[in-house]
Formats: sequence, C-alpha cells, structure tokens
Amino acid sequence: MKIINAPSLANCSYLNMGEQVAQLVKGGADWFHVDIMDGHYVPNLCFPINVIGELKKAYPQIMVDVHIMVENPAAYVQRLADQGADYLSFHLDSTRFSRRLLSDIKNAKMKAGVVINPSQNISELEPVIDLVDYVVLMTVEPGYAGQKFMVEALPRLARLVALRKASGNPFLISIDGGVDMANAVKCAQLGAEVYVTGIYTVFNQPAGLEEACRKFKETVLSGTNITNTSH
Ligand code: DX5
Ligand code: ZN
Repeated sequence: MKIINAPSLANCSYLNMGEQVAQLVKGGADWFHVDIMDGHYVPNLCFPINVIGELKKAYPQIMVDVHIMVENPAAYVQRLADQGADYLSFHLDSTRFSRRLLSDIKNAKMKAGVVINPSQNISELEPVIDLVDYVVLMTVEPGYAGQKFMVEALPRLARLVALRKASGNPFLISIDGGVDMANAVKCAQLGAEVYVTGIYTVFNQPAGLEEACRKFKETVLSGTNITNTSH
C-alpha cells in the first residue's frame, strides 16, 4: 500500500507557477496532475500540452499524470508521449473504443488509465478492467478546480476496490476532485493510492505549499496506519 500525492497544477497561480511547482517538489509531491481541457468535452479550457515537456525537463524524477478532458482523446496520445507524459487517463465516455485507446497509450510507453464520472456506474469499467494501469474516480463533475467532494463517491470507491480484487489486476486507484483531509483518510482506508490534491489540502494553506504537502502525506498515513513504500 502506498499514498501518492499528485497536486493538480490547475490550482497554481499562473504568474507564479514555476515557484509554486518548486515548492511542491520540495514538499515531496510524487506526481504532477495536469488537466487538459478542450472546451468541448467540458465547458472550460486548461493547459497547453507543452507544459508537460517543461515539467519533465525541470523535474524528470516526478511522474507527470495527464488527465485529458477532450472530445477526441486518440488525437492526443502521441503528442503527449512526445512531451514525456508518464501516465495518461481519458474519460470512458469520450471514446467508443476504450480498449484500443488503452492499448495505444501503452504502446506509446505510458501508463494507461480511464476516468469515471460521478454519473457513470462502476460496472461500466468491467469491459476494460484487465487493461488499465489505473482508474481515476471523479469525486466532482469534471471541468473546474475547487469544487466540493461528493461523499456519494465513497460507496462507489468501495465497489471499485471490490472490482479490482475480483479482476486480479492490481491497478492503482486515483481520487480526483475536491479532495480534503477527512475524505482522503476515508479513501485511503478503503484502498485508494493516488490523491489529486487541490485547494482543500495543499494550495491556499496558511503553512504554504511545501509544508502543506508534508502535512497531507502525514495525515493520510497516520489516519490509516499505512507504511509508505517506494513506487
Ligand atoms: C477537475 C479536475 C481536477 C481539479 C482538482 O475537472 O480534474 O483535477 O483540478 O482540483 P480541486 O481538488 O481543487 O478541485
Ligand atoms: Zn484532473
């Protein structure tokens, strides 16, 4: 069992992004979570893809986890691989060919994930469950940072953990949207590993980004008595 802190860079102040990213790294962030939005799949825009290349150049040791909220996810796979993305997840309902897309992502040497929205049944993951390296459970409707965690997601996470066990595929489970300390602890107790952290945990905290990253990891680990292992 491990706890991975993946700060969502959409929460950065763009005028200070370089400095903020440096602080996240000092605080022990494990992954950078990069939201890409095309203004069509979701009614918002976020990040040009070259931000990924810049992040990898500055911090090659940090995994870049790209979450694409776009209408044509297949069109981005090679370009994101060329930027150096390590993990790539797309929304299950953004393509009719999820299995092909998962294979294409793996063939492009990235870890492949699917994202499931609050309005979709967990059982919709069954046809792709053998192929995923990770599943992102949305705990808000996608499109905007800073929304409130939907507690209805907790029993859904329990179902996803049961599906993982039944599948025999030890994929990672990532929690994305409005993650706060109390719900992060609950999700860790249920078995999630990756936490997309935003304004309720690491950004906008009085102690600053670096200290808030440390505190997040400590709180989640002490709330679950999990021993963190390398990953
Ligand atoms: C929502 C995004 C999230 C978001 C997380 O569409 O996928 O990654 O930026 O940030 P918070 O937790 O602040 O909402
Ligand atoms: Zn995201």
